[in-house]
Amino acid sequence: MRGLHSWLLYVWNDDICERVNRKANKSVVKASNLWHSGNKFKMLLAMLIHARNIKRYGCEVYPQAIIGKNFYMPHCVGVVIGSTTVIGDNCTVFPNVVFGARYSPTKKNPKGRRHAKVGNNCVFGANASIIGDITIGNDVFIGAGAVVTKDVPDNSIIVGINNKVR
Ligand SMILES: CC(C)(COP(=O)(O)OP(=O)(O)OC[C@H]1O[C@@H](n2cnc3c(N)ncnc32)[C@H](O)[C@@H]1OP(=O)(O)O)[C@@H](O)C(=O)NCCC(=O)NCCS
Repeated sequence: MRGLHSWLLYVWNDDICERVNRKANKSVVKASNLWHSGNKFKMLLAMLIHARNIKRYGCEVYPQAIIGKNFYMPHCVGVVIGSTTVIGDNCTVFPNVVFGARYSPTKKNPKGRRHAKVGNNCVFGANASIIGDITIGNDVFIGAGAVVTKDVPDNSIIVGINNKVR
C-alpha cells in the first residue's frame, strides 16, 4: 500500500511540475511576442506578464530579449535572460542559467547591446553564466556551471571557465 501511495505521489508531482513548467515556457514566449508586436498596449501587457512570471515561476526572461522557435526551459526556476539577449531556434536552457551583462567595477559598462547572441540548437547546462555581449555559434553545448565570457564557435562544448573541450 505504501508503495502504491508513493508511486501515485510521484506521478502526481511529476505531472504538476511538468504542467507548471509548460505554462512558464508558454508565458515567457507570450510576453516576448507581445513586446515585439510594437503595439504600446501589448508592450505594457508584456511587462505585466513578465512581472508575474518572476513572481509565479521564479524566472526572469525579459520580453525585450529575442527568443527563437522551440525555446525550452525544462525547469524554469532561476533562469535570467537579459533584455538585449538574442537566442536562435531550438535552444534549451536548464535552471539557474543567467545571460547577464558584464557589470565591470574597472571598465566603463556598455550601453546598448550588453548580452549574448546565441545561434541555433544550443543547450545551456544548469547554473551556467553567459556574461556580456558575446556571440555563441550553432550547435553549442555549454556544460553545467560554466562561465562563458568569450565568443564560442559552432559545434563546441564548453565547461568550466571558457574552457573549450570540443
Ligand atoms: C558538459 C557535459 C555536456 C559533458 O558531457 P559529456 O561530453 O558526456 O562528458 P562526460 O560526462 O563523459 O565527462 C567527461 C569529463 O568531463 C567532466 N565534466 C562533465 N561535465 C562537466 C561540467 N559541467 N563541468 C566540468 N567538468 C565536467 C566529467 O567529470 C568527466 O571528467 P573525467 O574525464 O575526469 O571523469 C555535461 O556533463 C553537462 O554539463 N551537461 C549539462 C547537465 C545539466 O545541466 N543538467 C541539468 C539538469 S536539470
